[in-house]
Amino acid sequence: MIIAIDGPAASGKGTLAKRIAAHFGLNHLDTGALYRAVARDLLSRGLKLDDVWAAVTAARVLDSRTLDDPALRGRTAGEAASIVAKIPEVRSALLKFQRDFAARPPGAVLDGRDIGTVICPQADVKIFVTAGPEERARRRSTELNAAGIAISFEEVLEQVIMRDKRDSEREIAPSKPAADADLLDTTHLGIDASFKAAVDLIAAKTGLAGRSSHVRRAH
Ligand code: CDP
Repeated sequence: MIIAIDGPAASGKGTLAKRIAAHFGLNHLDTGALYRAVARDLLSRGLKLDDVWAAVTAARVLDSRTLDDPALRGRTAGEAASIVAKIPEVRSALLKFQRDFAARPPGAVLDGRDIGTVICPQADVKIFVTAGPEERARRRSTELNAAGIAISFEEVLEQVIMRDKRDSEREIAPSKPAADADLLDTTHLGIDASFKAAVDLIAAKTGLAGRSSHVRRAH
């Protein structure tokens, strides 16, 4: 079983994916961590994020044991990740790792931007998690402030909007729902309600239970 959870920055897809994986006993891969780690490895060696050759090399030799590094969740890491994520050769260097991870029994939940469209187009369930930009900025600024990082709501909102634009307008694997994805709008849903809606959807798709009213077809 493969479950694809895609969505924009701070939509809650990571938290959701982790809980879904635990609930169904599946492996979980936060694919954003791969791009964050490539950016980290470049910056830590004093290299530039748009140095294509260095970025591709960093992606090829990426050590997947370093994906839990707390530094990857820092304030600038997501921004840096979205710069290296625009490089087609970086994306193709990371493709096999993601597909191999998804293929490992008993199956996996992968969260990212292009799981349903590019990495696992054959996924059993595809959920595109959305939330309005203000709500996402509110969540992310609360999260950063709780981690002791002083940043205003307005500054986070600006970053969220800029990252949405970069991720959805890039030429390769732009962030968008797969034609057969279900949309889960969490603007007015807390994490428990979002989780329940997703579990209901997965159960319904895999023949186990009823549907949720929070989910509608993307197309
Ligand atoms: O948690 P948040 O949505 O802020 O970030 P993330 O999912 O860790 O992704 C960080 C950046 O990596 C995104 O802005 C994308 O540019 C890129 N990314 C991607 O291109 N494809 C993926 N499958 C996952 C992340």
